[in-house]
Amino acid sequence: MSFTVHSLLWLAIDKLKLAGVPEPQRDAWKLLAHVLNIGVDRIPLHLQKTISHIEEQKFENVVSRRANRVPVSYILGYRDFFEHRFAVTSDVLDPRPETEHLIIEALREDFAEVLDLGTGSGCIVISLLAQKSNAIGLGVDQSEAALEIAQKNAQDIGVAERCEFRVSNWFSNVPAVQFDLIVANPPYIHPNVMGALSPEVLHEPKCALTDHLDGLSAYRKIAMSAKKFLKPGGRLIFEIGFDQGVAVSDILSRYFFEDILVIQDFDQRDRLAFCRQNS
Ligand SMILES: C[S@@+](CC[C@H](N)C(=O)[O-])C[C@H]1O[C@@H](n2cnc3c(N)ncnc32)[C@H](O)[C@@H]1O
Repeated sequence: MSFTVHSLLWLAIDKLKLAGVPEPQRDAWKLLAHVLNIGVDRIPLHLQKTISHIEEQKFENVVSRRANRVPVSYILGYRDFFEHRFAVTSDVLDPRPETEHLIIEALREDFAEVLDLGTGSGCIVISLLAQKSNAIGLGVDQSEAALEIAQKNAQDIGVAERCEFRVSNWFSNVPAVQFDLIVANPPYIHPNVMGALSPEVLHEPKCALTDHLDGLSAYRKIAMSAKKFLKPGGRLIFEIGFDQGVAVSDILSRYFFEDILVIQDFDQRDRLAFCRQNS
């Protein structure tokens, strides 16, 4: 017996609700649109129709994955971030909308050379280069698998010729040059709170989330070496956890950076730490 799209959606929504998925209706529609290869806005035109057996099976399969709390972006294979669509897999952090604040802040001043530490999907450095057509960038990550995704994104978004990617443990494999801008969204979650995070987060690479120490070790390591890699007056911008503003400012002041600022997001939560190399 074939179900209409309407009935399939209701069954899916019930299954997602039972699994505790926070927005079951939105996700069921997105997943169905993905399987039918249509925009979500076209679904109402299909509600009374039936779909092929293969499409039905595919839908069942993606709904089951979502019920197992796999993030929607990993199922769809992409995430829209800032102005572009980025390929994502479980090898990279699912780019967060909060990280767009870092892009907005970085774009307030001009830059010619940018370094992105812990680039993951490449969403930060690629978004920046897409806005600044004369700039060049280097994205580094300890994960080779992540860098393959970042490279693909740079190609798809048209900045590959201006962007290099390298395996590196923070600065270990960064050439001895100076950048106008260094950005990083490092793993900053304290290991003690990992257990309280949503089940979706468990599908993301652990090394992208936590440093397994106190959530601040990456800031210390980066701040310790960043001055050598910044031009005079160059900027260092970190994404930080909402409760890390004071601690990260303190780290930056220990290394004599100037103009140290903590910047809040639209929810008035500390989100970025900013500083400058002395001029
Ligand atoms: C929070 S994710 C950020 C990914 C991406 N920049 C974003 O904002 O979506 C942190 C990234 O840092 C990388 N990473 C963790 N430790 C590292 C290290 N010691 N050296 C280089 N990269 C590291 C992880 O592999 C991960 O891709």
